[in-house]
Amino acid sequence: MSGKYLVTGGAGYVGSVVAQHLLEAGHEVVVLDNLSTGFREGVPAGATFVEGDIRDAAKWLDSSFDAVLHFAASSQVGESVVKPEKYWDNNVGGTMALLGAMREAGVRRLVFSSTAATYGEPTEVPIVESAPTQPTNPYGATKLAVDHMITSESAAHGLAAVSLRYFNVAGAYGTRSNVMVGERHDPESHLIPLVLQVAQGKRDAISVYGDDYPTPDGTCVRDYIHVADLAEAHLLAVRAATPGEHLICNLGNGNGFSVREVIETVRQVTGHAIPEVVAPRRGGDPAVLVASAATAREKLGWNPSRADLAGIVADAWDFAQRRGK
Ligand SMILES: NC(=O)c1ccc[n+]([C@@H]2O[C@H](COP(=O)([O-])OP(=O)(O)OC[C@H]3O[C@@H](n4cnc5c(N)ncnc54)[C@H](O)[C@@H]3O)[C@@H](O)[C@H]2O)c1
Repeated sequence: MSGKYLVTGGAGYVGSVVAQHLLEAGHEVVVLDNLSTGFREGVPAGATFVEGDIRDAAKWLDSSFDAVLHFAASSQVGESVVKPEKYWDNNVGGTMALLGAMREAGVRRLVFSSTAATYGEPTEVPIVESAPTQPTNPYGATKLAVDHMITSESAAHGLAAVSLRYFNVAGAYGTRSNVMVGERHDPESHLIPLVLQVAQGKRDAISVYGDDYPTPDGTCVRDYIHVADLAEAHLLAVRAATPGEHLICNLGNGNGFSVREVIETVRQVTGHAIPEVVAPRRGGDPAVLVASAATAREKLGWNPSRADLAGIVADAWDFAQRRGK
């Protein structure tokens, strides 16, 4: 059955890919985005675009919406350390306003973009949802605060909610069609697009932050998930959300790849040399972050099919080349 969805942050990377998937599934999509880090041209054709802030969501939400998919946030870890007030205001204050607008309008279904950063330094890997949550930066702390806010909203006011805790999202969507949506952050802080910038000659070398971690090659290990697999989880989550319950699911592949393995994969996919420079560790970077996605498989029926790192990198490379400079 088709529905009408508000996609906050739908001009950004993940939101635009999910909006595209919703449209392809026959749903009506309204994107609400203030373009603070997103791009107008990232909004998929077929979606209605509203340029505005989630703090004013009450202006646009009404009972005709079936659900909200909430991606809008500030999400640069480094910036959150130096400007924490921006993160508490936008992520927590913004979501509080959004939840209020949803209550007023009678929209009772929500899927929220949470993050592996809510866990901080893991005590065990793979990480399960019941693991301790001790974020090591304000970004993770604000996302955890929103998760708690949603839990209370569900318990008190019957909201049907799912938080999806993404691990490292990568890749692009639509390489085999005319529609192409992919990763575009400014400044870019994610490893795969940064390494691809070296391949494109936009950077001289890739910095490897620490090569003395207790991992097989000394560099940090992360769990990379294809953005199209992630998008499919959102469509499943909208359906699985149950009134009065707040379900939290990790989204990852359960496989870890080191920074050096990613760089090597980019060399193989692009055919470029990719010089690397070892730099000091960054504070608050855990050695290994790998998800257990057993809950998403069991509760959502999620079955990611694009776990191959070379395929993820190939799609991201295709997108980077199409974008050119
Ligand atoms: N990309 C990842 O690897 C990753 C990992 C874990 C979690 N997440 C979460 O997923 C979500 C999407 O991430 P992304 O990588 O697509 O980021 P992004 O910056 O590309 O997208 C965020 C979008 O939200 C918009 N926005 C921000 N504040 C807003 C506000 N107050 N009102 C309206 N729009 C606003 C921005 O303009 C942007 O288009 C974020 O919530 C992020 O925290 C992303």
